[in-house]
Amino acid sequence: MLRRPRRNRKSRVIREMMEETRLSVKDFIFPLFLIDGLNQKVEVASMPGIYRWSTDLLLKEVEECMALGVRAFDIFPAYPESKKDKFAKESYNPDTFYLKAIREVKRNFPEACVMTDVAMDPYSSDGHDGLVDNGKILNDETLEILGKMSLAQAAAGADIIGPSDMMDGRVGYLRRLLDENGFSEVSIMSYTAKYASAFYNPFRDALDSAPKSGDKKTYQMDPANFREALIEAELDYHEGADFLMVKPALAYLDVIRLLKDHFELPISAYNVSGEYSMIMAAASKGWLDGERAMLESLLSIKRAGASVILSYFAKEFARLKRDEA
Ligand code: PBG
Repeated sequence: MLRRPRRNRKSRVIREMMEETRLSVKDFIFPLFLIDGLNQKVEVASMPGIYRWSTDLLLKEVEECMALGVRAFDIFPAYPESKKDKFAKESYNPDTFYLKAIREVKRNFPEACVMTDVAMDPYSSDGHDGLVDNGKILNDETLEILGKMSLAQAAAGADIIGPSDMMDGRVGYLRRLLDENGFSEVSIMSYTAKYASAFYNPFRDALDSAPKSGDKKTYQMDPANFREALIEAELDYHEGADFLMVKPALAYLDVIRLLKDHFELPISAYNVSGEYSMIMAAASKGWLDGERAMLESLLSIKRAGASVILSYFAKEFARLKRDEA
């Protein structure tokens, strides 16, 4: 036999020499959940190991992560019902704890990269990403609210804003608004191909942000569709997005590859809450080796074409790398 592929697998050194894909802590954005108050650290029941932090403790968490080499964070706020309304007004109140926390993180860690979420759901009494009128999600009226939210986040110091709302035209609308208001350096990581997925449930537990009625299928994409992701990506590309995101990641590796092959922009993938919880649950029962399942999942996301990975495993991954070193 002239070709014996097993020769290149015969030792660890040779295997590692020919590895086509390598993960680095630099690939990651770590999502963090924030709550109001002082000295609060509350575990998310459906996401063991993941907490909702008050700002003081969130700063400590960021510090620990930075020491491990995780330098990018996507911060999501959990608001009590009393702060929610139809118009998500709290999202652009400059004194709201979320915006104050972003300022604090940037003041304490200027070199950290802070990403924010642009969508109405954490602040909406309807629990939807857009404005609800008679059971319908209004597109263009929602853009105005997302605009105010984005400007407030940019003013607080966000390095990247992440429109996760899936309204049409929002990337172009937000890009123009940011530029007109002196925020031309703020990046947009667009949730380009965001699917209406069952894998977001633990996240909605973390934020108490599940829709009060209906579902998100009139704005998030149908899991059956592949080619439609190209339409979304072309729009976001032409509207000025800096990164194109696919979400969730693991059930949509084909879509990650599709965007990677068709666009020069960096592709990111969101390894979502349900993907984290499944591995953690199976590992706690002894059904899977959690660490290996985590590494294999993250590697697959990168192999599929994502150069940036948003994952609740980011800190755990960094800890492992440190211990290996
Ligand atoms: C909200 C938003 C969601 C996630 C990120 N931003 C949930 C949703 O669309 O319902 C999900 C993240 C995760 O599951 O980890 N716009």
